[in-house]
Amino acid sequence: MEQTVQEILAIYDDKAALADAHTIPAPWYFDERIAELERRRVFGKTWQGVARTDQLASPGQFVTAQIAGEPIVIVRGNDNVLRAFFNVCRHHAAAVMTEPAGCAQHLRCPYHGWTYGLDGALKGMTEFEGVCEFERAQNGLVPIRVETWENFVFINLDPKAESLESFLGGLVKRVKPLQLGKLQFFERRSYELKCNWKVYIDNFLDGGYHVPHLHKGLNSVLEYVNYTIENEDRFCVQASPLKDSQEDADASATRKGTMAYYFWQYPNFMVNWYEGYLDTNLVLPLAQDRCLVIFDFYFAGTDDEAADYNRQSIAVSHRVQEEDVDICEAVQRGLNSQAYLAGRLSVRREAGEHLFHRLLAADLKGTRAVAAP
Ligand code: FES
Ligand SMILES: [Fe+2]
Repeated sequence: MEQTVQEILAIYDDKAALADAHTIPAPWYFDERIAELERRRVFGKTWQGVARTDQLASPGQFVTAQIAGEPIVIVRGNDNVLRAFFNVCRHHAAAVMTEPAGCAQHLRCPYHGWTYGLDGALKGMTEFEGVCEFERAQNGLVPIRVETWENFVFINLDPKAESLESFLGGLVKRVKPLQLGKLQFFERRSYELKCNWKVYIDNFLDGGYHVPHLHKGLNSVLEYVNYTIENEDRFCVQASPLKDSQEDADASATRKGTMAYYFWQYPNFMVNWYEGYLDTNLVLPLAQDRCLVIFDFYFAGTDDEAADYNRQSIAVSHRVQEEDVDICEAVQRGLNSQAYLAGRLSVRREAGEHLFHRLLAADLKGTRAVAAP
């Protein structure tokens, strides 16, 4: 008989200490019902990165996105206030804004031409005279919560959610000294992977465990033995001292400074930092066995002189990403195998994954996350 969702959730023991813990079980990575539960209880309730602040700097600038299956538009008003709405026309539900990003004077629905102000208020309906008991003021776009942190814009579909600052907790203080605001956006790259979104997060959170085996170039500049992993609130900070090495010219030229920091914020946002370099990874589920990873690259300089160096740096990241894509897709095939249910975690390396799995279990089971044992 098919297992119920409750039975699948119960396989994972979120009370186990790291040394006793298993990973979340394989069905969490391929069962459609778990993906649906995540949509509602994780992506529909947590703060979700949707845009960069530079995309929404001036009045009229907008970005569209889809979070937890919901079409969303974020727009800066003429009063300079940043607002987010469900991108759903109040007439017959078409998407009002259809471009991924841009600048507009009004939000005009392409279907029958209804027009909304940048503040979401319904301004005009074509050929709507004689309609009874229709209140224009009651038919603006439906608002969503939006807040910003550093260079990033987040929304939350849950009107009762805590503030973004409280959700991020200690991460705000940890990231502040890095002065991300001084770095400028340079390029976006997106990768579609044939794996569950959590496989990608797990791979990020294995404390560098896979780096010497899979990423020889990157490994040549990291002091692997001194790699640290710290869990706090809903985030994990992985840090590694950098070392001089001639083994990989591109990696050593573009991974500079004394330290590398890799931040993960539950559930699906990562910030990777080297001196003069930042990239963010946003991991979006597309289906239970597919995800999209969006990389935004920022650098200290973005003019013509800096561009060649920036491209060399992105090429290093792209190589690492290709190596990760192959392994993540292999993991997904393995998770689907009858040979595998769950695995164990390295105490030295995999505390970040343990935090992720416990936070996720708490959200899916509707319980509070237990403190890190
Ligand atoms: S659905 Fe938008 S105007 Fe009709
Ligand atoms: Fe990797």
